[in-house]
Formats: sequence, structure tokens, C-alpha cells
Amino acid sequence: MAKVPVQFTLNGSEKAEFVESGATLLHALRDKIGDTSPKGGCHQGTCGACSVIIDGELRLSCLTLAETCNGAAITTTAGLAEGGVLHPLQRAFLDAFATQCGFCTPGMIMAAKVLLDRTPNPSREDVVEALSGNICRCTGYEPIIQAVLTAARANSQNAA
Ligand code: FES
Ligand code: FES
Repeated sequence: MAKVPVQFTLNGSEKAEFVESGATLLHALRDKIGDTSPKGGCHQGTCGACSVIIDGELRLSCLTLAETCNGAAITTTAGLAEGGVLHPLQRAFLDAFATQCGFCTPGMIMAAKVLLDRTPNPSREDVVEALSGNICRCTGYEPIIQAVLTAARANSQNAA
């Protein structure tokens, strides 16, 4: 299959790769670049485990062609910690026991990040709605919802 060049920013670093034409961004990230934080669950757009942020929008990397991401700014969970300090969402997920097997966690955190970037003080309903595209088979969702609400509170206290 023909290879095509792709070039984008991943978590602030320039990346350039050749990928098969028609390859997904999930494949490019995990198998070409080595960022395994987005997970491949269903590979058909129903589980949310592969979620990443592209130019500020939550996107499913299993349904996004890598070659459509030229020039984009992509964020994955692997890019959230700064200087060895966990992002408030990562800290809240740990503290709330919102991760068990952990497979859904990167996608949940990406979805939650987009929510908090746009709605710093979300209601519980906002959180449920924002996470509605992400499936968790372990936690029963409640610890995840509480973790997002806790991270939102922490953010607003830090901003005060
Ligand atoms: S792997 Fe992309 S939505 Fe499930
Ligand atoms: S923690 Fe296992 S799927 Fe969510």
C-alpha cells in the first residue's frame, strides 16, 4: 500500500512519519510514534478508549485517518503531566479509585479534559453527558464522575 507523509504536533512536539494511506491516527500514534496512551478497544467508534484531542476537539483516533491530521495539534493522555506532576484529572482519577483495569481511563480523561476546558464548573449532568461516548466495564462510572467533579473543584480553587 502507498505510504503518505504525515506531520503534526503531538503533545507539543513535532512529529513526522510515513504511514500507509488509509491508516488510522490510532495506528500512527501507537505503532509508528510509540504513544500507547490511546487504547484500541472496539476500533469502530463505540467505546471511546482511543479518544484524543485534535485542535481542541475530542476525536476518536480509530475513526480518524492519520493523513487528515497534517498540521494539527494533537493531545493525548501521555502529554498531560507536566514536570513529573500529574494533571489534576489524573490525580483525581487516582484518588477517587476511578480506574481499575485502566483500559478506558485515557479516553475518559481526554473527554473530561475537553469538558473542563470549556466548562470549568460542570454540573453532574454535564459530566455524564461529556462521558457518554466512553464505555467502562469495571467501575460502574460513579467514581469516574466524582473524579471529574473533584478535578473541576481543584481547578477552580487553584484559579481563585
Ligand atoms: S477504539 Fe475507537 S471508539 Fe473504540
Ligand atoms: S477501568 Fe476497566 S474499563 Fe474502565
